Amino acid sequence: MPAPRTVHVCTVCGHESPRWAGRCPGCGEWNTLVEETRVRDGAPGRGAGQRAGAGGVVAAVVPVALASVAVAPEPRLSTGIGELDNVLGGGLVPGSLVLLGGSPGVGKSTLTTMALANLAAAGHRTLYISAEESASQIRLRAQRLSGGDPLAIPVVAETDLATVLATLEQERPEVCVVDSVQTLHSGGLTSASGSVAQVREVASEIMRVAKTAAIAVLLVGHVTKDGALAGPRVLEHLVDCVLQFEGERERTYRTVRAVKNRFGSTNQAGVFEMRDDGLVEVLDASARFVAEATRAPGSVVLCAMEGVRPLLVEVQALVHASELEQPRRVAAGIDRNRLALVLAVLGRHAGIGLGHADVFVNVVGGIRVDEPGADLAIALAVASAARGRSLQSSSGGPLACFGELGLTGELRSVAHADRRLDEASKFRLGDVVEPARHRTLRAAVASSLARSDARASNELGVNAA
Ligand code: TYD
Ligand code: MG
Repeated sequence: MPAPRTVHVCTVCGHESPRWAGRCPGCGEWNTLVEETRVRDGAPGRGAGQRAGAGGVVAAVVPVALASVAVAPEPRLSTGIGELDNVLGGGLVPGSLVLLGGSPGVGKSTLTTMALANLAAAGHRTLYISAEESASQIRLRAQRLSGGDPLAIPVVAETDLATVLATLEQERPEVCVVDSVQTLHSGGLTSASGSVAQVREVASEIMRVAKTAAIAVLLVGHVTKDGALAGPRVLEHLVDCVLQFEGERERTYRTVRAVKNRFGSTNQAGVFEMRDDGLVEVLDASARFVAEATRAPGSVVLCAMEGVRPLLVEVQALVHASELEQPRRVAAGIDRNRLALVLAVLGRHAGIGLGHADVFVNVVGGIRVDEPGADLAIALAVASAARGRSLQSSSGGPLACFGELGLTGELRSVAHADRRLDEASKFRLGDVVEPARHRTLRAAVASSLARSDARASNELGVNAA
């Protein structure tokens, strides 16, 4: 076999150069050269070899109508974790490559070990390849986990890609975990582990072996908070399924959602809680969040959607006179730019200007909501905090709401309104503030605050009597 050589290819213009440079000689962009392997001299590479057959004549193929394409029933490997199976679209597909991305400490190793333990208990051949931890560290974690058969999982602690590939070809497990794509190292490339070139090489080589040996691979990848580091982003087009594991290390709740799935919908999400004996599925997340809602000024319940599942979460805000030239805007669990937009609309269209106040907004429990339907909850929480009035539903419970804010101060409808309302009524949170009831933010804020007024005067009345 010809020896592979490496070249540096610009990700913007495709210019190739033998050495790395900070600036692409082709297009002048900075930091765009990425190392790639090439097979030397005329060996049939992917492009050239496929174009011409032996005689230089290429045979055409006959297109087939989709209706007559045979579809084999797709077997699925159940991970024994209901929420994870759901997100995968009914379990792992044999031979598929699943990327599980998440920040360090979120619980990727825990979740994948638990899945393998269940698969091992169900009699499947499994393998855990760790390039991050030693075999004894993996064992210590496995011992703490409940369920499945954690100590039956065969492990390999190895960082060299070629060794890992050889092991995979020899062992041929049905399901394999590779933890993580950033710490495996291909000797064929000079760049450091975790660089874009390495990550791409590692993933594509593992995929090649996994597809030929029909191994389902759970590939673990780290992403930083802003997803900036050379990370799983470059692999998204390569793998069959991308799962995002979200939640903060210090918080209890974590969510897993599919951002890409060739074998199922991306509308699924699962909620987990980190306990001493591993991750536990949270099936009644709404009940907990509603029960814990404070109902103090600055608190409101948002009817959110986790994929296709409704979830009630508490959104809290704190507004405080600022001592800084530029007041603070701190957002946890929501997008910072979204907060800025909501504050601008509140000031311009609902008469609640907060130019000289620090504003803090937090989604309780470490849940992240990335949907425009959260706008109204942010606005009402901030309005309630700014006015120092608590928001109540007519039943005396916390006030629930959802809806998107338009830049002209109107409330806009969002998807799955009926499911959100059903979830709210399940917890007896009646009269939900939402776009079907109020056309503008001003009206929604006025009606919500008026309700708290009514309660306040009632209480005064009771006290006086
Ligand atoms: P880990 O799965 O190692 O995270 P990752 O692989 O994503 O980096 O574990 C995350 C954290 O969870 C770790 O700090 C310890 C904690 N943890 C528990 O609270 N309970 C458990 O049963 C386990 C295994 C871990
Ligand atoms: Mg880990």
